[in-house]
Amino acid sequence: MRIGILGLGRIGVFHAETLSRLDAVESLVVADPYRDAVTAAVERFGAEAAASPEAVLAAGVDGVVIAAATDAHPSLILAAVEAGVPVFCEKPVARTMKEGVEVLNAVRDSGVEIQIGYNRRFDAGFVAARAAVRSGELGPLHTVRSTTLDPAPPPAAYIAASGGIFRDCSVHDFDIIRWVTGREVTEVYATGSNRGEPYIAEAGDADTTAAILTLDDQTLAVVSNSRHNARGYDVRMELHGFRDSIAVGLEDKLPLRSVEPGVTFPAGTPHDFFMDRFTEAYRAELSAFTDVVAGRRTSPCTVADALEAGWIAEACTLSLREHRTVTIEEVRGA
Ligand SMILES: NC(=O)c1ccc[n+]([C@@H]2O[C@H](COP(=O)([O-])OP(=O)(O)OC[C@H]3O[C@@H](n4cnc5c(N)ncnc54)[C@H](O)[C@@H]3O)[C@@H](O)[C@H]2O)c1
Repeated sequence: MRIGILGLGRIGVFHAETLSRLDAVESLVVADPYRDAVTAAVERFGAEAAASPEAVLAAGVDGVVIAAATDAHPSLILAAVEAGVPVFCEKPVARTMKEGVEVLNAVRDSGVEIQIGYNRRFDAGFVAARAAVRSGELGPLHTVRSTTLDPAPPPAAYIAASGGIFRDCSVHDFDIIRWVTGREVTEVYATGSNRGEPYIAEAGDADTTAAILTLDDQTLAVVSNSRHNARGYDVRMELHGFRDSIAVGLEDKLPLRSVEPGVTFPAGTPHDFFMDRFTEAYRAELSAFTDVVAGRRTSPCTVADALEAGWIAEACTLSLREHRTVTIEEVRGA
């Protein structure tokens, strides 16, 4: 099949590389306002260059991957849907929930499949955790701990446009908590601090946060995030039930050093960032998209599904700002 790629930044190039290695993908057509990025993709992946997103959609593509900056997502999704082309769009759907809901309303009855890129849903560890919860082997859950710690903060310009750490980073934890547990979040309490790069505080953001989420079955989920984790990229989840406890990410490349005498685990080289931690998950995610394009399956993460994690991020952002518990109902109705 022929796949278009809109946006060739950090993740767009990574997706181009993954797509170029999938058997199902025969050719790539790419566009990015930054011409050097297009030239590089033509040379590196044998992609065809297009002058604009519209030109990609007019080039007979079977599906399109949107990896452009977040503020371009709504208009690009709508253009692809208008052209009747199945869409894979990186998270989040839009920069604000208002725009996200507008996209949802505009595409709801289109009949065009849209997959949003919550890659953890395709990671073998999270897939196994979901199966364990569903099988009942853990018993009813009482505690979930979800961690995402970045090795170093992104540049100031990225922070300023990111919408804050809950919308940009923790949103992956929020999505995967919903997906693994099968439960909805009802209320949150979030707090944050800044002991690192001053530009994060200057942007009104926090570099380190903690959030307590109450799920609709009374399970408590604790979400821990930081932009500063010198030892590497640390993504983990623990699930504790009345019958058993399990962990995702408890493997040799876990960026943590045990100080217990005689303990040598974890012995591997720590994960350095999301691209190495989730290489396989991104491959499985885009492979699933080729199945969506071929009509073999429906979208594994719809716009409606993706927006749910967004509401949790909104609630945490408000909770941090006002130092109080916030319900999802409150932000959804605001
Ligand atoms: N799922 C994940 O793990 C993950 C990881 C990283 C980024 N992302 C998401 O991917 C998106 C891109 O992030 P990034 O880190 O690659 O950003 P980036 O700034 O490195 O790249 C964005 C690219 O989009 C291009 N662009 C802007 N407007 C465009 C348009 N209208 N049409 C085509 N291209 C356009 C820019 O020129 C730039 O090359 C963001 O929405 C981000 O949230 C998701």
